[in-house]
Amino acid sequence: MSKKWTPKSWRDHERLQMPAYPDAKALADVEARISDFPPLVFAGEARQLKRALAKVAKGEAFLLQGGDCAESFAEFHPDNIRDTFRVLLQMAVVLTYGAALPVVKVGRMAGQFAKPRSADDETIDGVTLPAYRGDMVNGMEFSESSRIPDPERMIQAFNQSAATLNLLRAFAQGGYADLHKVQQWNLGFVANSPLGERYRDLCERLSETLDFMAACGLTSKATPQIRETDFYTSHEALLLNYEEAMTRVDSISGDWYDTSAHMLWVGDRTRQLDGAHVEYLKGISNPLGTKVGPTMEPDELLRLIDILNPANEPGRLTLITRMGADGLARTLPNLIRAVEREGKSVVWSCDPMHANTVKSSNGYKTRHFDAILAEVHGFFEVHKAEGSHAGGVHFEMTGQDVTECVGGAQDITEDNLSDRYHTHCDPRLNAEQALELAFLLAEQLKADRAQKNGLA
Ligand code: PEP
Ligand code: CO
Repeated sequence: MSKKWTPKSWRDHERLQMPAYPDAKALADVEARISDFPPLVFAGEARQLKRALAKVAKGEAFLLQGGDCAESFAEFHPDNIRDTFRVLLQMAVVLTYGAALPVVKVGRMAGQFAKPRSADDETIDGVTLPAYRGDMVNGMEFSESSRIPDPERMIQAFNQSAATLNLLRAFAQGGYADLHKVQQWNLGFVANSPLGERYRDLCERLSETLDFMAACGLTSKATPQIRETDFYTSHEALLLNYEEAMTRVDSISGDWYDTSAHMLWVGDRTRQLDGAHVEYLKGISNPLGTKVGPTMEPDELLRLIDILNPANEPGRLTLITRMGADGLARTLPNLIRAVEREGKSVVWSCDPMHANTVKSSNGYKTRHFDAILAEVHGFFEVHKAEGSHAGGVHFEMTGQDVTECVGGAQDITEDNLSDRYHTHCDPRLNAEQALELAFLLAEQLKADRAQKNGLA
């Protein structure tokens, strides 16, 4: 018998990957303060994203989700926010051109601060301390005081999320995202690379199209779709104390929403059917995601879908598969067949990052560009073979010129990794690698489209 859902009913379920706070009173005090903070997003916006994702589920749009593995307090800077936003816009333009479909843009931004870890502790030179779990939980520095979970960090994460979201809204709606500015997004280190060159070519074609449209009366002034864009936020709903405190009743629908982000997802390590995280997510009305790793069985997936989307509402649930370039052809087809057989409406999205993480010979956690690309290609191939819509991609990436993933046109080698390895958790694609991936993906989408049209 399931009891009535409330924002805190997760507390009666087994919780994994959550910190043990030493001071219960300090924790309760922070939770109470956050409960009185203003919402970061509105229910109406979450519903708008759900409608956009419903189009993706039907094969009429494409989802681009990306951003940091873990946002950090140290890297909080307007330039970092702008640069990641800008690369996502560039990628979206490239993909829109290739797929001739609208691209739904969702950042792993403005709230992505809590991380699941493979081990609870970390040992260095014989000293064992609790693992780092993201800046909203504890500090990355390897010292006893920094690793103690501190609830005050949730307040700082909220404030940073609010400021980040404020800037993102200004960028998206205030003129920066005007399609006439596509050329100006191509700045920084990418502009002088072969990818920057390729992007410039595309901008020229786009400019001609815009001139033509303007001559037909479709100007920025008359057409908001040219002048501004929709940009949404998302993060893993991992630290449930925070998510619960951000949960509010929407006055229009009377439904519960998590107002910390438009979309929330559950990680591969916390998606147990009767666990705390699934219990929390099932009661909020935001669009949801679940990571789907190589151990997921078809029956288990169907049961998870029934819990998270019992009404089979299109756009409610995105399945973010992360199988690994090698395992994908073995694991994904059966899951797609089960979902299709049962007539479940889902968005299929590909996270080619999390099952392709390796250790370099010089000790860095890294990912190979070729493995990432291979998983994306494989994802499209499998969906084509099954007749389902490969709906989107989910990347860990940054607008900065970091050296964290090896390969790509820049040909970053293992020896280069130490140059600018800044991530607080997993290795991210840099701006050039991310744009390159978008171009390669766009080629595939274009070829698929040509094939489909040819057959029609
Ligand atoms: C993540 O998206 O950062 C993550 C931890 O992914 P997963 O749950 O797929 O391991
Ligand atoms: Co990650």
